[in-house]
Amino acid sequence: MEKILNIITEKMQKAFADAGYDASFGRVNISNRPDLCEYQCNGALAAAKQYKCAPIKIATAVVEQLDKNDYDLVEAVMPGFINLKLSGTFLRGYLEEMRTSDAFGVEKVGTGKKVVIDYGGPNVAKPLHIGHLRSAIIGESLKRLYRFLGYDILGDIHLGDWGLQMGLIITELQERQPDLCYFDPDFTGEYPTEAPFTISELEEIYPAASAKKKEDAGFADRAHTATFELQQGRRGYRAIWDHIMRLSVADMRRIYDNLDVHFESWLGESDADPYIPAMIEGIKSKGLAVMSEGAWVVPVAEETDKKEVPPMILVKSDGSAIYATTDLATMVQRMQDFAPDKIFYVTDKRQALHFEQVFRAARKCGIIPAATELEHLGFGTMNGKDGKPFKTREGGVMRLEQLIADMTAFVRAKVVENKIVSDDEVDATTAKIALAALKYGDLSNQPTKDYVFDMDRFAAFEGNTGPYILYTIVRVKSIISKYGAYKHLPIQVPANGCAKDLMLSITKFAPTMESALKSSAPNLICAYIYELAGAVNKFYHETRILTEENEDLKAGYIALIGLAKDILETCIDILGFSAPEKM
Ligand code: ARG
Repeated sequence: MEKILNIITEKMQKAFADAGYDASFGRVNISNRPDLCEYQCNGALAAAKQYKCAPIKIATAVVEQLDKNDYDLVEAVMPGFINLKLSGTFLRGYLEEMRTSDAFGVEKVGTGKKVVIDYGGPNVAKPLHIGHLRSAIIGESLKRLYRFLGYDILGDIHLGDWGLQMGLIITELQERQPDLCYFDPDFTGEYPTEAPFTISELEEIYPAASAKKKEDAGFADRAHTATFELQQGRRGYRAIWDHIMRLSVADMRRIYDNLDVHFESWLGESDADPYIPAMIEGIKSKGLAVMSEGAWVVPVAEETDKKEVPPMILVKSDGSAIYATTDLATMVQRMQDFAPDKIFYVTDKRQALHFEQVFRAARKCGIIPAATELEHLGFGTMNGKDGKPFKTREGGVMRLEQLIADMTAFVRAKVVENKIVSDDEVDATTAKIALAALKYGDLSNQPTKDYVFDMDRFAAFEGNTGPYILYTIVRVKSIISKYGAYKHLPIQVPANGCAKDLMLSITKFAPTMESALKSSAPNLICAYIYELAGAVNKFYHETRILTEENEDLKAGYIALIGLAKDILETCIDILGFSAPEKM
């Protein structure tokens, strides 16, 4: 569907032409004086310079050419503005088309385009902590937005499953249980299917090993060797690695499921490993890598750089591959398997330089063709109320599970206290509200900015919050349930000012989706639904809906709030949460 701004711009351009002026002056904008009008055109002011006459004369002549059925207000005002208010007939027609179109008439700009989105990025064997929250929430919502706009998008978790942490665990395990068959180089039998540790033991082993590494150089050496041998394919170590993966991934899956975050692909750094040797050979043979202090590096600095961009390290002096090498090899793999038009990374913004280096190296080495876009969205930090990175009360890093549990307990108390639902529905309703509070609290901020995690504010049922949006949806659902079926009811011309405002809000759906995609900004969707929910509630307060005696009028009201609700639900689904039946 054509966007309103384009429709009325085209009409305005035709009016300029019909009045004898160049059509290009007919650009219409959303009014910056909503008290005066909804849309405005300032083209007469520019045209006046070219045609050397008073702008008001041009504006008046253009206004005469416009079809008055489209506008409640169309006037030329000094010095030469054209102010517009859309007519009810125009809005009715437009919303009726939205209502009956697939995806409310949004243009599926992504049709035929493939995207890989790399988000989540947790490290195996370490519990998920709040540092992983933003990548999961923002990545998931961008993925859903792309999908909504027609892209074929694949979410890849890109597990950190190949680094030193694996060697550390293996080494620590060997110290604790040296007699396990995994450590016996002569063992040729089948390894047990049960892991020699539980997930909670694993989560204790890793930090213990990590601490030991710092104090004990011998231990650190052994861990490096174990990592190397694992990567070379030592059988017993591979078997331990399999155990770690199985336990850790199952645990992660459970937590991501609770967040309604789902990855299509669970590949990790280890899966890129087989691509590394050939890739390095290729880069070396093209002469794109140089030796620097014993390491192979790819210089990526550019003349226009304002800050120094150091070379990307391809192979360290001890012969090992590093984080950047793996990311480059993962690109090789993704191009081979999926040939995406875009690869999109969602991580903490402190990784900006890393991605800048990797992107440049990928282009330089011909791994990523010019036609494939690369984007890194670096998000800001989640802070506590003290403005410093969010910590537990004891000052430690907070587990993601703990944060979810705290939010859930907080919301649960409200649900119980307000007697919102019957006892057997408390858990399900609480889960939905808590998720909305958490996700909306995050997503309503510009992703690149830091924000303050404020449970009271995020979980409030009023104000710019997730629960408020849910509350609005639930309210409409409840009205509609008293009325009956609504999907077939046509939109009518607005019966009052609030209805018109609500209709105008609804029309901003498509432009919002497009700009949210263009600027990777789910916060624009949040701002939109906050405005839309406000318009719904205002309409609800100022209009007798169910008690309206004129049945036609009543049907029109229901059609309108029904469309608003459907759009709100579509938007929260893109943001990654859903509404309960009662609230
Ligand atoms: N595992 C990494 C970390 O904890 C994040 C991975 C992000 N994705 C990527 N392709 N580098 O920092």
